[in-house]
Amino acid sequence: CYPIASTHSTMLHHRFLLMLYPAQGHINPAFQFAKRLVSLGAHVTISTTVFMHHRIKNKPTLASLSFLPFSDGYDDGFTLTEDTNYTHYKSEFKRRGSEFVTDLIVSNAEEGHPFTCLVYTPLLPWAAQVARGLHVPTAMLWTQPAMVLDIFYYYFHGYGDYIAEKTKEASCSIELPGLPLLLAPRDLPSFLLGSDSNLDPLLISMFEEQLDYLDTETNPVILVNTFEELEPEAFRAVDKFNMIPIGPLIPSAFLDGKDPSDTSFGGHIFLPSDGYMEWLDSKPDKTVVYVSFGSFCELSKKQLEEIARALLDSGVPFLWVIRENAKEGELSCREELEEKGKIAKWCSQPEVLSHPSLGCFVTHCGWNSSIESLVCGVPMVAFPQWTDQKTNAKLIEDVWKIGVRVDHGMNEEGVVEKEEIRRCLEVVMGNGEKGEELRMNVRKWKGLAKEAVTDGGSSQKYLNAFLDNVGQESI
Ligand code: UDX
Repeated sequence: CYPIASTHSTMLHHRFLLMLYPAQGHINPAFQFAKRLVSLGAHVTISTTVFMHHRIKNKPTLASLSFLPFSDGYDDGFTLTEDTNYTHYKSEFKRRGSEFVTDLIVSNAEEGHPFTCLVYTPLLPWAAQVARGLHVPTAMLWTQPAMVLDIFYYYFHGYGDYIAEKTKEASCSIELPGLPLLLAPRDLPSFLLGSDSNLDPLLISMFEEQLDYLDTETNPVILVNTFEELEPEAFRAVDKFNMIPIGPLIPSAFLDGKDPSDTSFGGHIFLPSDGYMEWLDSKPDKTVVYVSFGSFCELSKKQLEEIARALLDSGVPFLWVIRENAKEGELSCREELEEKGKIAKWCSQPEVLSHPSLGCFVTHCGWNSSIESLVCGVPMVAFPQWTDQKTNAKLIEDVWKIGVRVDHGMNEEGVVEKEEIRRCLEVVMGNGEKGEELRMNVRKWKGLAKEAVTDGGSSQKYLNAFLDNVGQESI
């Protein structure tokens, strides 16, 4: 594991280039990391695609932070939809991105202010490859739990057949080196099992390329948006990796409170609605259920109707984010929903989660949502959909014990029915033993998360050690 240093060196000479995959789940933690670096004295240049750059509504404005987008050939929009030509997209993304990174690193060096480190979010291994070729140290910023990276590593390094064989039985237990947790098929990242999404082949091939690239490095540095106490085994489970837990990466106002003005990631790709904070203000403490499925998931209309009925039947006040681009069409009970709860097209999620009225988060278990909920002390109804979300749900329910998972009650169409959703809501919101236990646990994890990022905390020490080594041979 990475050596722990006691202090960090002066950062004034450090120039970071942050290359970001164009997705909300990458942008938010990376922006937070960038703000942290700037607060310590570094200069940071953030780059993502032109299209994504223009979609981001409220970028942070800091003197030592600049944005320089690059064209992936789809400046008017590219979304991972079923009918896109993936092969063309992937090769253009890599070719144009590599040219951009090369030119930028070379020109900065020629102008006398070379980059001291390139940090990239997953699925951009070409950025690291270019930087390495130009002798610029690199680190990957992994945006999911450390455990998910371990699972991917083992899947591509000798355990693929074992996992495929084991998962023929739904009730099997999968055991992987260094991970004490036994996993059932329903706990694995969805890409390893094959789902009905046409995007899986593209994404699995991108993860494979990412892992292949890491294989070419001796001891790749991987910054992880987690903290040591949360995943004590996972970030040490693969000897090959130098995983450094530096999280949680969420705005300071909701975490250590050192910068009360830092209340947003600064990376919204959708415009937040009006009025939901005032609506929350009107509700008593710990009474509101917040429902959101992140920036990407599309739920079927049938599933949304079941969620709607469960919320209405349970009589709880709720704030539900239904994105503008959601394809579900009009819900049959939309009027009733608007009357009894609040529907928003997008919100500033950490602000919502830290509002005193929040009692429960019904979440798809995207990693950012999961860790934000934990930091804000809100227990969850875990409603995973795909990618890492199933593994995250397992951790939420069985390891940290801060939520209950719904998918026990799925019907043959794969829809979780309203009775099951209602049951979970009652457990989390209720005064029974289980609800009390969840609330007690989430308070504990919230405290540990804060400790990790305060002076002397584990994430703080790991970050300092990383910064001390930036630009040195050892990185
Ligand atoms: C994706 C994957 O789905 C997820 O599993 C993976 O871990 C990261 O990449 P996404 O689906 O968008 O991300 O979910 P999540 O990781 O939870 O990120 C969503 C981000 O958007 C969070 O930081 C959340 O605070 C923010 N958000 C969400 C808002 O600010 N407002 C909203 O209304 C909803």
